[in-house]
Amino acid sequence: MAEFTLPKNSQIQQGRHWPAQGAKQPRTFKVYRWNPDDGMKPRVDTYEVDMATCGPMVLDALIKIKNEIDPTLTFRRSCREGICGSCAMNIDGTNTLACTKAIDDCAKADVPIYPLPHMDVVKDLVPDLTHFYAQYASIKPWIRTQTPAPTDRERLQSPTDRKKLDGLYECILCACCSTSCPSYWWNGERYLGPAILLQAYRWIVDSRDEDTGARLDDLEDPFKLYRCHTIMNCTRTCPKGLNPAQAIAETKKLMLERRAL
Ligand code: SF4
Ligand code: F3S
Ligand code: FES
Repeated sequence: MAEFTLPKNSQIQQGRHWPAQGAKQPRTFKVYRWNPDDGMKPRVDTYEVDMATCGPMVLDALIKIKNEIDPTLTFRRSCREGICGSCAMNIDGTNTLACTKAIDDCAKADVPIYPLPHMDVVKDLVPDLTHFYAQYASIKPWIRTQTPAPTDRERLQSPTDRKKLDGLYECILCACCSTSCPSYWWNGERYLGPAILLQAYRWIVDSRDEDTGARLDDLEDPFKLYRCHTIMNCTRTCPKGLNPAQAIAETKKLMLERRAL
């Protein structure tokens, strides 16, 4: 399980308690709150939600809180089916997606909900992903070619080569893995972190890409790649069941192989 640490701007105090009057099946959620515009310190608000009238996922509870109890609560969501990655947050001590995390699977009676750890917070449960996306852009995540495009068809790929992308293309860039990685917490300015390194590997192994050497050159850096110390939080926490640690290990292996040539 990914270790839980508080967001960067934290000196958290108890906030408001919102009881559920006459609830048949009450469940309590303790939610991190911080508004940069009100000058107050971060706090944890306590919401009681009636499970008899709530959907099964943590996102259902957050939407119910926002719609029926406290409209000021702020969080990101879009697809509500584990595809867009926008509802990533720290729930019950683990980074995961609110829309695919079942409330019944939360071990703590009072379910703690925080933003992704060690990130600056925009508001409440919304982390600032500006640097994360800039790191993604830095790996140039598109097919880079030297040869002219075929005029009569797409650039083809054999089924065997296509299979090399399994376990990589499914990444939704939710940032759960990177924000669970202690090395990324301490070196995130220069270490790319597991999500971006998995994406980098996805293009390195794509048989249609013709810039593999330059991609490896870009990662030949004491911080960008080599700050991974095989801590494995990334793989343990990925809500899509992917293995960024393995993608990083494979990239390091390719580095060694080309040095031996
Ligand atoms: Fe999210 Fe998993 Fe991709 Fe990391 S590897 S960004 S945890 S989907
Ligand atoms: Fe971090 Fe995963 Fe490496 S947790 S140190 S990126 S194995
Ligand atoms: Fe899209 Fe949760 S809302 S992944």
